[in-house]
Amino acid sequence: MNKQGFIKSELLDGTSVTIRPIRAGDSGMEQEFIRHLSKESRYFRFMLSLRELSPKKLKYFTEIDYDRHMAFVATIMREDKELEIGVARYVFTENPGTCEFGITVGDAWQGSGVAGLLMTSLEDTAREHGFKTMEGIVLPGNSKMLKFAQKRGFKSHLVEGEDDTVHIELQL
Ligand SMILES: CC(C)(COP(=O)(O)OP(=O)(O)OC[C@H]1O[C@@H](n2cnc3c(N)ncnc32)[C@H](O)[C@@H]1OP(=O)(O)O)[C@@H](O)C(=O)NCCC(=O)NCCS
Repeated sequence: MNKQGFIKSELLDGTSVTIRPIRAGDSGMEQEFIRHLSKESRYFRFMLSLRELSPKKLKYFTEIDYDRHMAFVATIMREDKELEIGVARYVFTENPGTCEFGITVGDAWQGSGVAGLLMTSLEDTAREHGFKTMEGIVLPGNSKMLKFAQKRGFKSHLVEGEDDTVHIELQL
C-alpha cells in the first residue's frame, strides 16, 4: 500500500483492480453500486430492504475522517470509467480500541478475490490507527460471510437476547 492507501492488484481472473480510500466525489459511484446489488446482498449488508442510500447516508458513507471512520473501495476500469465492485469500511464504536466493520462485494464479483484484498487493507489500516479489535454483526443465514470471516480468523459468538444475529470478532 502506498502512502495514500492505493493498491493496484489483480483479481483471480487477471482483471486489474484498484483498492483505494473512498472520497467525497464517489457518492454517485457508491449509489450505483448499491442500486445494482441483488436484494439478498443488500439485505445481508444492511439488514433491511433498502433499494438505495438516502442522501444523508450517502454523505455519511463517502465523507469520512479516514481515522475513526475508514472505507476502501475496489474499482475496475470499464469504458474509461471507474466502476465500483466492492467496498469495506470500519467505524469506531463506544468501546475504546474497537471498530465495527462491513463489507460488500458486487454479486458478479463475489468469489473473485476482491473481498480478501479489501479486508486486508481495512484490517491493516485499523491496526495502524490503534484499533485492537474489529467486530461485525452477521445474519445467521449469511453463510458466505460467516465462512469468509472464519477463514480470516474471526471468532463468532452469540449475544444473549440477540438470537437473530451472529457477532464476529477479530483481534488485530
Ligand atoms: C460476504 C462477502 C463480502 C464475501 O465475499 P466473496 O467474494 O463472496 O467471498 P470469498 O472471497 O470468500 O470468495 C468466495 C470463494 O472464492 C474463493 N477465493 C476468493 N479469493 C481467492 C483467492 N485469492 N484464491 C483462491 N480462491 C479465492 C474463496 O476461497 C471462496 O471459495 P469457497 O466458497 O469455495 O470457500 C460477499 O459475499 C458479499 O458482499 N455479500 C453481500 C454483503 C454481505 O453479506 N456483507 C456482509 C455483512 S458485514
